Amino acid sequence: MKTLSIGMFDSGVGGLTVLKEVRNLLPAEHIIYLGDTARVPYGNRSPHTVTKYALESALFLLTKGIKILVIACNTSAALSLNILKKKLPIPVLGVIDPGAKEAVTHTKKKKIGIIGTKATIRSMAYERAIRRLDPAIEVSSRPCPLFVPIVEEGLEHDEVAYLMAEKYLKEFKDSHIDVLVMGCTHYPILEDVIRKTMGDDVSIVHTGKETAKEVKKTLEREGIISETGRGHSEYFVTDSPESFEEIGSRFLGERITHIKFVKNLDYKDFLLSS
Ligand code: DGL
Repeated sequence: MKTLSIGMFDSGVGGLTVLKEVRNLLPAEHIIYLGDTARVPYGNRSPHTVTKYALESALFLLTKGIKILVIACNTSAALSLNILKKKLPIPVLGVIDPGAKEAVTHTKKKKIGIIGTKATIRSMAYERAIRRLDPAIEVSSRPCPLFVPIVEEGLEHDEVAYLMAEKYLKEFKDSHIDVLVMGCTHYPILEDVIRKTMGDDVSIVHTGKETAKEVKKTLEREGIISETGRGHSEYFVTDSPESFEEIGSRFLGERITHIKFVKNLDYKDFLLSS
C-alpha cells in the first residue's frame, strides 16, 4: 500500500494549487493527477452532472493504483464527497472540511466569509461544515465566477483583478468578517489581490494547504505514508494537453511535461478495454 500513489482530480488545471501543497508537504509520495479539461468548468453545472463526472474521474484513478483519493476541486468536493466516500474502498478527502476547520480555528468574531464557484456556494457545503463545528458562527458567502478566467488568462496582477476583487468582496468588508475562505482551486493565485482588498485584519484560508495537512494525517493514521525517496507526479487530461502544460506550468511555477491524454472518461468504456 505504501508505494501506491495519491490520486487527485479536478475539473482542469486549478487543482494544481492543491497538488503543489501536497507535494511540498509529502515529497516522497507519487501523485497521479487527472484534470477533466474537456468538461471544465464544473462551477456552473448541476449537482447531478458534477457527481457523474466525479464518479468517472474517481474510477479512472482507481484503475491506476491509488491508496487515497483527494478531491482537489471545490465544486466536486461540495457536491460529491459523500457519494465517493460511500462507493470507494480507499480513504477519500475533499477540500471543504479542511478549509472549514481552519476557518473556525481562526475566527474570533465568529464571522466567516466564503468565496467559490456558483455551484459550490449554492451547495452550502462550507456553511454545513462550519456549523457542524460551531453552530454559533455566522457565515456569509458569494460566488466570484470571473476570478477563474482572470487567473487562467494570466491577469492576476492586472487592474481587472483588483476591480473584480473590490466588487466581489465589498459586502464582506461591510459585514466585518475576520476570516475569508478561498473556496475555489484558482483563488490562491489571487491571494495577494484578495489580501490587499480585504486588509490585514482578515485571515485568508488556503484550502489546498489545509487539505495537504489532512492528507498527511490520514496517511499516517492508516499506516500507508511513504517517507523515503523522491516522489514524482503524473498528469492526465481529457483535452488539450498543450494548454494544460502552458497554464499548469504557470500555476506550479515549473514546467510540466509528459502530460497524457485520456480519450474517454466513461468508466464503462475503460472497464471493457482493461
Ligand atoms: N476547480 C473548480 C473549483 O475549485 C473551479 C473551476 C471550475 O469551475 O471548474 O470549484
